[in-house]
Amino acid sequence: MESPTSTYPQITKILHTSLIALIVIEFFTALVAPQLSGGMSPGAIVSLHFSFGLVILPLAAALIGMRYAAGNEGPGSDPLTQLVANVGHYALYALLIITPFAGLLWADSRGWEVSLFGFIALPAIVGVGSGIGRIFGELHAFFAAIIGLLALGHIAGALYSRFIASSLGQYVGNNSSPQGEQG
Ligand code: HEM
Repeated sequence: MESPTSTYPQITKILHTSLIALIVIEFFTALVAPQLSGGMSPGAIVSLHFSFGLVILPLAAALIGMRYAAGNEGPGSDPLTQLVANVGHYALYALLIITPFAGLLWADSRGWEVSLFGFIALPAIVGVGSGIGRIFGELHAFFAAIIGLLALGHIAGALYSRFIASSLGQYVGNNSSPQGEQG
């Protein structure tokens, strides 16, 4: 939720849109991937899950940096709404960094090679059968579920801000215009 007068730079919007697309791809590939047992090599879909998931890391880091540099929400919404929006945003950003790492450790512990679209192979961080890798595997699925919930909350907040809050603002005559939401 941003101030009616503030706009995000084009690059931030591109990053935001790219991250949404990548998150959708991650859930889609996880959904359609055949469940694999350790020892089997990951197929094309799981490899795409790894590669697109790794792309999320630098994009999320860049978006966090830009949002931090630009400051927090503008004065367009009440303090409680701002607080909820900020907590939601930063939790989502943190998870977008932690979740791919957790997936990476999980893949390592299962002995799967992780590469970026087959071009750049990443060295394993933990060994095959690593207990830490397995724990992070559990966390990966849990964090992914939280990302899904936060993303839905994020969309609901954006719709509320754009349609309901702005209508209420106009109703009480404070001249507020529709506000946008960027992550
Ligand atoms: C934000 C990025 C990511 C999201 C939202 C995400 C989401 C998911 C989801 C929802 C699942 C299914 C969990 C389940 O079966 O209970 C999954 C599985 C998995 N993910 Fe990710 N993931 C991401 C990034 C990554 C990355 C970067 C890697 C590795 C480099 C990875 C490795 C794995 C592995 C190994 C599995 C298990 C696959 C299987 O057993 O078939 N994930 N992920």
